[in-house]
Amino acid sequence: MSTAGLSRIPTGIDTETAAAFGVAYRTAYHTLRSVARVRAGDELVVLGAGGGVGLAAVQLGVRLGAAVTAVASSDEKLAVARSYGACRLANHRSGDIRAALREALPGGADAVIDPVGGELSEPALRAPRRGGRFVTVGYASGVIPRIPLNLVLVKGVQVLGFQFQDVAPAEFQRNEDELRELLTAGRVVPHIGARFALAETARALRRVADGRAIGKVLIDVNA
Ligand SMILES: NC(=O)c1ccc[n+]([C@@H]2O[C@H](COP(=O)([O-])OP(=O)(O)OC[C@H]3O[C@@H](n4cnc5c(N)ncnc54)[C@H](OP(=O)(O)O)[C@@H]3O)[C@@H](O)[C@H]2O)c1
Repeated sequence: MSTAGLSRIPTGIDTETAAAFGVAYRTAYHTLRSVARVRAGDELVVLGAGGGVGLAAVQLGVRLGAAVTAVASSDEKLAVARSYGACRLANHRSGDIRAALREALPGGADAVIDPVGGELSEPALRAPRRGGRFVTVGYASGVIPRIPLNLVLVKGVQVLGFQFQDVAPAEFQRNEDELRELLTAGRVVPHIGARFALAETARALRRVADGRAIGKVLIDVNA
């Protein structure tokens, strides 16, 4: 195994925080900075806003100065997103999410981050303003959505995908440095929704697989 993908945990950061931070916060930050190109004052919509990548995108979007609309399946998840600065909340289980987003953002969103896929993607693809960005990050719902392509034409939306290797090296390093600064300064603290002992790994995985996890779920290999 190569050591190229390893990085030193910054001084003062405990191992739990480092474990929870890793993939989710790096995915969210590179997506926001280099693909969605979120800037201060932008309207940002985050799907799966209670999940690992989604909640990280809420926190980091707020730090970038965006006004964040969080979309999730429960009021409990939305309350956590609000506690990290989301200013608008939409529960997609309790109504028409397309109408809710239109009402919340009459001028349209500048960017939408989608780590969920499935039936949420199409209504969310209608949310950006002309020239806005829709970024597909993952398919936690288990369903890769098929979208009517005319929506892209009619609405003038940019549809983009995120993969780590697609970020140019210099930009990648800039993002990593900025993210490390946010972490070490305590301006972003990963949300650990649950902790399990190693022997309880099956329960931990079940919680994630059922979509019940909020933020990151940790398995303590020493417990
Ligand atoms: N492109 C990349 O480089 C990259 C990097 C990291 C992760 N990913 C992908 O991004 C996706 C999200 O990762 P994550 O760490 O945020 O996952 P997560 O913590 O499990 O959160 C996923 C969210 O998806 C929603 N969901 C809907 N149906 C679900 C189901 N059947 N099972 C589980 N969740 C469901 C849930 O939100 P609601 O309850 O609110 O609907 C949940 O909070 C994954 O597909 C992952 O593979 C991609």
